[in-house]
Amino acid sequence: MRTSRTRSTRTRPLRGSLRRRVAALFAGAVTVAALLAAGTTAHAADAPLRDLAAAKGKVIGTAVTGSKLTGTYGTIAGGQFNSLTPGNAMKWGTVEPTRGSFNWAEADQIVAFAQAHNQQVRGHTLVWHSQNPSWLTNGTWTTAELSALLQDHITTEVTRYKGKLAAWDVVNEPFNEDGTYRSTLWYNGLGADYIAQALTWAHAADPSAKLYINDYNVEGVNAKSTALYNLVKSLKARGVPIDGVGLQAHLILGQVPGTLQQNIQRFADLGVDVAVTELDIRMQLPSDSTKLAQQAADYKAVFDACVAVTRCYGVTVWGFTDSDSWIPDVFSGYGAATPYDENYAPKPAYGAIAASLGGTTTPPPTGACTVTYSVQTQWNTGFTGQVRIACSGAALSSWKVNWTYGAGQQITQAWNATCTQSGAAVSCANASYNGSVPDGGSVTFGFNASWSGSNPVPTVTLG
Ligand code: XIL
Repeated sequence: MRTSRTRSTRTRPLRGSLRRRVAALFAGAVTVAALLAAGTTAHAADAPLRDLAAAKGKVIGTAVTGSKLTGTYGTIAGGQFNSLTPGNAMKWGTVEPTRGSFNWAEADQIVAFAQAHNQQVRGHTLVWHSQNPSWLTNGTWTTAELSALLQDHITTEVTRYKGKLAAWDVVNEPFNEDGTYRSTLWYNGLGADYIAQALTWAHAADPSAKLYINDYNVEGVNAKSTALYNLVKSLKARGVPIDGVGLQAHLILGQVPGTLQQNIQRFADLGVDVAVTELDIRMQLPSDSTKLAQQAADYKAVFDACVAVTRCYGVTVWGFTDSDSWIPDVFSGYGAATPYDENYAPKPAYGAIAASLGGTTTPPPTGACTVTYSVQTQWNTGFTGQVRIACSGAALSSWKVNWTYGAGQQITQAWNATCTQSGAAVSCANASYNGSVPDGGSVTFGFNASWSGSNPVPTVTLG
């Protein structure tokens, strides 16, 4: 990988040289307002994503962990999303760890939370090769026994939540990358028709839930998504209850498939809904502003594609905060894949989602920090200058100010700041003890400089 480095301009530290002050000539002052960059950070006044999505007729969901649904996590999960997917709580290994002994606690909790917050629930998942109980995977079963086990499992779980779930990811990840069926307990034991059977059993247990087949790497048009397409087409032709396809969308930064919308559209044209079910967009750590901007563009591309197709039901993110994402555990060196950082601060991706859903970005706070440059005293070869940084309706935790001298002035000494001068360019940063400028407060630093001919006041910017 190629890394680029900014060529550094030569700077030199200032040598102190106090000059005799012979005059105190007022030389003027200039104030420069520098609005604080507010970026794309969302503010409390913005409409929640769930309201924006609802206005577009879309669902916006998140995977959740039941034990975390309090405090800030609960506030965001309940306030920003109109659908929840249990991240693990409804998987077979969770609900029936020992044969015949069930643990519905977390699943029930998530369903209750969703009902209390007027949210849908997306059930995930009934038939998968992963996260099954060991009694099941380690057992030896005849075809008839395996079929009965699967039917019982589906019937028990779907019946428990009958009428309470909007949709079920009935079958998860049935395909290989080349479009052949994945070799699993189910495919190997029951043949490809386990998919049709599972859908049929689920429909019998809850006729109102929308039934999906869900997979990854089926976001663009490719061999795997085409196999899914052909399966759905044949299931529809046979009258098997299939309502939709789930595109998991565990994506890599900068790699949203260009055929995403076309792919969603071709499934819609088959007469099924499409849901983006597990969206996250991972990047190599550490994150930086360039990667976060790319991630925002990627999130927007995915939401835009869903908004553009009527039968795209909605988008669920696989965890809304980087503190509750599976990515770092599974993809070594990758992370920062969700719209909120690990401290629940919205990332640029959050603003991009809001924008895609028709939201407006709240303007930055009207407050500002301003810089004032003034010449305090001036003599025949030198002068003493002062810079004041004052904040009102805004605040700084560190600061740096820059200006360019127009008449050959040269700084010789500074106090209460660290200043460097390279040619005409001067840059002064806070000292260790005065970086903080509170709302309504100010910080001042001073310097001595030489001049000859004239000493015009420069324009100072807060950087
Ligand atoms: C993941 C969970 O997020 C993790 O907590 C768990 O350890 C492994 O499974 N595709 C799916 C999801 O369908 O169920 C997976 O969830 C992520 C990949």
